[in-house]
Amino acid sequence: MERRKDTETVGPMPRTVLILDFGAQYSQLIARRVREHGVYCEIIPYDTPWSAIAQRDPAALILSGGPSSTLTPDAPDMDPQIVKSGLPILAICYGMQLVARQLDAELVKLDHAEYGPASLLVADPESPLFASVDPESRVWMSHGDTVTKLPPGYDVLASTARCRIAAMGSRHTNIYGTQFHPEVVHTQFGRTILKNFLHGIAGLRSDWEMGSYVDRAIDDIRVQVGDDKVICALSGGVDSAVAATLVARAIGEQLTCVFVDHGLLRKDEAAQVLTAFRDVLHLNVIAVDARERFLGKLAGVSDPEQKRIIIGHEFIRVFEEEAAKIPGVKYLVQGTLYPDVIESKTPASKAGHKIKSHHNVGGLPEKMNFTLVEPLRLLFKDEVRDLGRVLGLPEHIVARQPFPGPGLAVRIIGDITEERLEIVRNADAIVREEIDSATLEPHPWQYFAVLTPVRSVGVMGDGRTYDHLVAVRAITSEDGMTADWARLPHDLLARISTRIVNEVQGVNRIAYDITSKPPSTVEWE
Ligand code: XMP
Repeated sequence: MERRKDTETVGPMPRTVLILDFGAQYSQLIARRVREHGVYCEIIPYDTPWSAIAQRDPAALILSGGPSSTLTPDAPDMDPQIVKSGLPILAICYGMQLVARQLDAELVKLDHAEYGPASLLVADPESPLFASVDPESRVWMSHGDTVTKLPPGYDVLASTARCRIAAMGSRHTNIYGTQFHPEVVHTQFGRTILKNFLHGIAGLRSDWEMGSYVDRAIDDIRVQVGDDKVICALSGGVDSAVAATLVARAIGEQLTCVFVDHGLLRKDEAAQVLTAFRDVLHLNVIAVDARERFLGKLAGVSDPEQKRIIIGHEFIRVFEEEAAKIPGVKYLVQGTLYPDVIESKTPASKAGHKIKSHHNVGGLPEKMNFTLVEPLRLLFKDEVRDLGRVLGLPEHIVARQPFPGPGLAVRIIGDITEERLEIVRNADAIVREEIDSATLEPHPWQYFAVLTPVRSVGVMGDGRTYDHLVAVRAITSEDGMTADWARLPHDLLARISTRIVNEVQGVNRIAYDITSKPPSTVEWE
């Protein structure tokens, strides 16, 4: 493992944009879009006091939208110092209404809320916010209130048929507001408008990129762990792979990785993962063959939640046993990502009924008395993939489709046996092979086979069969939270079906899952 020489300099942390989150479903999307422009940003709760914001020395602020109305008495408010701070501000939807209210403008509730597409006419083509934006373009609206009278000193920058003040701003204060959502893809010039704000108005450079992030992260890891020993659980997934590789770059031999083969991985996956980590990335890996142990614990268990709980607990036990064999370990690497870290004051989306406990295999308990090293805690998933590429991880790991921690256990409906694992593994390999080699737009987000407990009558050769039904699932999605079934070409589905029935012993019928999420989920269990 090459150590970076201490004489090399690490660049400073890029200037930061802070996004005040008023509970918008789009706050994370705003952050991802800002970072796509090479500008670092973080999301903070809307009621963060100005003193705390000032301490962070941000270069600009963005105010998100939110589900509330500023016209109600207990509407989420922000520190009034913020609009007086002199910082460039882009206020979106609810954010614009709040700025307007704090600056003594007038707002009213609309008779009918406006949702969906609208045609935006630019009223001030000279405004820096609308540079390179067509005079008329499509935007995405979602609001129940509207600004009817501008704050003193502000101009109307753009309008729609139903919203006269669809954008407002002042070159003197550098505060701009849009009633529409520039962060969503349905807003035709959304990216340009954000870029105009970040680069043109706030004067920010594109200095957030994974190449320099590596250097800073390596420094931080070295400072945090010093000469101590560090352990990491590898799952084969992108996050743990990137986190481990980054930590190994920083401290080399001080890191030991543990890879637990629970026997629920896909065809040849355990071997591929080990080859990649040991031979390509030269990580120090202890491989534990725990296949029999997990199968034993799962014998006769058909309830999905029970399966997840058993696998999660057993994983912790195996990992603890391995950790105990390495004396003096003080730190544990975890691939925590930014969406898990964001502190939200209006967590409406997170409340609600639990559908599945995603007991993450590899999610290790705090009582293990290790201090956590979380080198990805500032990153979104797409940035983790970029970082993986910068670190030289093979594409089959970096671009790996999401795979549940409990693995094939939740893709076999009912009991898990070696024979049923073999069927689902072979069928799954065919689904992946066929879809991977097809040119599809968009490429499905996840695709796999599910072994159902159904048996049906068929005929093969001259004989009657009574064999398993395999379901094929392929979905398109942005983030796994919602999904649609992929409209795969019929000839591709036909090839998948023919191959599975011909090549996988014990299967005589294939069904294609044509449900979206909601009402279904991605996995069948
Ligand atoms: P569902 O089935 O809840 O899946 O719609 C959403 C996304 O999460 C993955 N998934 C899991 N991931 N542990 C995981 O680490 C789990 O227990 C688990 N269950 C589902 C699923 O593959 C999809 O990407």
